[in-house]
Amino acid sequence: MTEVRRVALVTGASGGIGADLARVMARGGHDLALVARSAGKLAALANEIAATGRPRPLVLAVDLARTGSTDELAAGLAAAGASVEILVNNAGFGLNGPASQLDRASQTEMIDLNVRSLVDLTLRFMPDIVAARGRILNVASVAAFLPGPDMAVYYATKAFVVSFSAAIGEELRASGVTVTALCPGWTATDFQARAGINAPVTALMPAMSAMTVAEAGYAGLMAGRRRVTPGLFNKIAVALLPYMPLSLLLPAIARMQKSRRHV
Ligand SMILES: NC(=O)c1ccc[n+]([C@@H]2O[C@H](COP(=O)([O-])OP(=O)(O)OC[C@H]3O[C@@H](n4cnc5c(N)ncnc54)[C@H](OP(=O)(O)O)[C@@H]3O)[C@@H](O)[C@H]2O)c1
Repeated sequence: MTEVRRVALVTGASGGIGADLARVMARGGHDLALVARSAGKLAALANEIAATGRPRPLVLAVDLARTGSTDELAAGLAAAGASVEILVNNAGFGLNGPASQLDRASQTEMIDLNVRSLVDLTLRFMPDIVAARGRILNVASVAAFLPGPDMAVYYATKAFVVSFSAAIGEELRASGVTVTALCPGWTATDFQARAGINAPVTALMPAMSAMTVAEAGYAGLMAGRRRVTPGLFNKIAVALLPYMPLSLLLPAIARMQKSRRHV
């Protein structure tokens, strides 16, 4: 009988926070399955990890925003004899601009990736994760804790991720499965370029490295924490935001997003 390969599946592993989460998890001794659209970047990361003496991660090049893509992903895993023990829903993107002016299809694609595929993968692999008493890490954002004029759909998708993660975490509590929402603030990755953001790093808006965020996320995942907010600045922001009146907060966020937009 062939042995089942128990993997930690990381979406959005071709770059940024996801690639560093994969590196940190490989160091932690996890066998991995790497998912994103860029097959070449995934293969390069799998080779990098294999060169350290770890098992070579499975590579699954899939566009998760496409309906039916998670069927392909599940079929690829089954063909490799792999079962998901840890699920890291990290793939996501944002778009900067008023919702009325941004492309409608791109905004619904964002919901397909940031929300629909995250829910689909979670529900699809839940039986395996429960059987393994595994873990789930969903990458949300500081943006989850307030409405985001001029990035409205993105902020709303991340609010969904925080809410969904906390709720299913409670549902799964008796099973021993933990669900962690990772809530980074501004992190230096390709996210800004895809979102149409062009902002200098300032003392007021410090950027963290993807590796620092990944290490915090992994530590929180393995400790079974409900929520991880890396960085003091972000922790303070998340703690204070609920006390700020929306009449002041919303125009301030709109001004900030406008000032960061690529022209
Ligand atoms: N950077 C920040 O400031 C920041 C702050 C808070 C939260 N976050 C969140 O952190 C997560 C990771 O973002 P990042 O900062 O690391 O950005 P990134 O460097 O742009 O990485 C995004 C990852 O998602 C993958 N991806 C994008 N579209 C995909 C699709 N349709 N199907 C499959 N994979 C797809 C990308 O790979 P391919 O292009 O190869 O598909 C890439 O691996 C996101 O959920 C983001 O919302 C980022």
